[in-house]
Amino acid sequence: MTTTEHVATTARLVLRTWRDGDERDAHGLWGDPEVMRFVDGGPHEGIERTKAALAAAATAQQAHGCCLWAVETRDGGDFVGACGFHREDADALELAYHVRPDKWGLGYATEAARACLELAFSRLGAARVVAFAHRQNAPSHRVLQKLGFHRAPDDDDGEHHAYALAMSA
Ligand SMILES: CC(C)(COP(=O)(O)OP(=O)(O)OC[C@H]1O[C@@H](n2cnc3c(N)ncnc32)[C@H](O)[C@@H]1OP(=O)(O)O)[C@@H](O)C(=O)NCCC(=O)NCCS
Repeated sequence: MTTTEHVATTARLVLRTWRDGDERDAHGLWGDPEVMRFVDGGPHEGIERTKAALAAAATAQQAHGCCLWAVETRDGGDFVGACGFHREDADALELAYHVRPDKWGLGYATEAARACLELAFSRLGAARVVAFAHRQNAPSHRVLQKLGFHRAPDDDDGEHHAYALAMSA
C-alpha cells in the first residue's frame, strides 16, 4: 500500500489505489451500517477488518490490475468512497460502488463507475461486467440502469437482482 497508482480521472473525481493513511476514511465508509446495509458481510466492526480489506485490495491490484479503488474529489481530494471490481474470473468483473452518505445523490457513483467500465473494456480486457443489487437497494438499481446494464435474471439469487453489461453494449 505504499505507492499509489493513479487509475482514472473523471470530470470531478480521481480513482486511485489505496495508500497508507487511508485506513480511517475506509473504515468510516465500510464501518457505516447505512453504507453496508445491502453489502454482503455488513459493516466492518473493527479497523482490523478494514485493514484486511485494504490488504486484499492491494493483492488483487497486483495480481489482476483491479480492485475496489479509492475515490476522491479532484478538487480538494475529499474522500468520496470506493468503486471498482471484484474479479469473478478471467473474463468477468463484478462492479461495486460505495459512497459516503453525505455525498449521495450527486452522481458520484455513476461517474466513478463509468470510468471503471471504460477501464474494464479497454485496459483490463474484460468481455463482460456483472453487478448485483439487493432487491430493496433502489439507488443501486438506478445507477446500473444509468450505466446501461441490462437485467440478467438467470443469475438472480433470492436477495439480489443480477445485471450484466457486455463490451459491445
Ligand atoms: C448506491 C450508491 C453507491 C449510489 O451513490 P450515489 O453517488 O448517490 O449515486 P448517483 O448519484 O450516481 O445515482 C443515484 C441515483 O439513484 C436515485 N435514487 C436515490 N434514492 C432513490 C430511491 N429511494 N429510489 C429510487 N431512486 C433513488 C437518484 O435519484 C439517482 O438517480 P438520478 O440520477 O436518475 O436522479 C449509494 O447509495 C451507496 O453508497 N449506497 C451504499 C452502498 C451500496 O449499497 N452499494 C451498492 C452495492 S455494491
